Amino acid sequence: MEDLKKTIEQMTARDRKPVKHKPVNKQESGGDLESWGRNNGAAGDVGGDVCPDCLGRGFVVGSDDVAVRCVCMDVQMMNNRIKSARLAKELVKCRLDAFDFSYYNDKGGKSSQDEGKGRRDEGEYLLSARKAWQAARDFVDGVMGDPNHIGLMYSGQAGSGKTYLAAAIANELVRQNKSVLFVVVPDLLDEMRATFDRKDVSEYDLLDMAKTVPILILDDLGAHNYTDWTVNRIYSILNYRVNEKLPLIVTTNLHHGDIACHLGERTSSRLLQMCRVFKLDVPQDIRRQQYNVREKG
Ligand SMILES: Nc1ncnc2c1ncn2[C@@H]1O[C@H](COP(=O)(O)OP(=O)(O)OP(=O)(O)O)[C@@H](O)[C@H]1O
Ligand SMILES: [Mg+2]
Ligand SMILES: [Zn+2]
Repeated sequence: MEDLKKTIEQMTARDRKPVKHKPVNKQESGGDLESWGRNNGAAGDVGGDVCPDCLGRGFVVGSDDVAVRCVCMDVQMMNNRIKSARLAKELVKCRLDAFDFSYYNDKGGKSSQDEGKGRRDEGEYLLSARKAWQAARDFVDGVMGDPNHIGLMYSGQAGSGKTYLAAAIANELVRQNKSVLFVVVPDLLDEMRATFDRKDVSEYDLLDMAKTVPILILDDLGAHNYTDWTVNRIYSILNYRVNEKLPLIVTTNLHHGDIACHLGERTSSRLLQMCRVFKLDVPQDIRRQQYNVREKG
């Protein structure tokens, strides 16, 4: 860290004199955009230090004396898009091409959920995962050309990969410059409760954004404590979006009938209108599978 600071100080002093910079080269400058995104916070910022390529100015001067945008600016833009999509740190790593199908292999023994129910056909879990994954891929490709593309609803037990797929869709779209909002429904309910009594907040920003954002992801539309008021707000988001034909991605661990119980028939009916439904089945909660691997070493 000290070394880096010294180098930067030296470089800054040297830069006071007119000097021709080496053209920026992604490989030479410490890796590609991906590794920048993983390792660094923002443009001009290398783990708290200044970008060594542009020294925080956001551009570098090429060998032909033409100033070009530094790669750290692309990182900053990507980070801003991720921030405005409200993607949590843990979800930024979810990628369609990193989706691990091996969690859906039934490795022989009966999983706890199948005890007493008879064994499911080998490969059925995998089939459900392949269909769900393909639907995500098709959605990403489809919505790039058609802003009114039909959405998706992923249902399934806890730890079956629903949020992973929804976040992977968000990441793909963010990378392709699409405006996406990732809303965790319990957080939305908290925010709604927090603003309910506040007379100074005339409109609920998040609700408004959820209505109008080009692509909305509602994660965990589950069995939460909905009041009549929150049920109505969620209905109004969906009703607006259905009328404007704005795509929606939903994850839920409720069956369709249960959604109707919690959120009303009008909302559950609109969900069917707006979304293709896919059920993710997994032989065992993926969190449990990861736990077993971790603890067995
Ligand atoms: N196909 C996958 N490949 C790699 N990791 C996965 C995959 N599916 C899920 N995971 C990981 O497993 C964990 C649980 O997945 P996820 O959060 O998507 O489950 P969920 O179905 O949304 O569960 P819940 O109903 O509890 O919200 C997460 O850490 C996630 O990153
Ligand atoms: Mg989830
Ligand atoms: Zn830079």
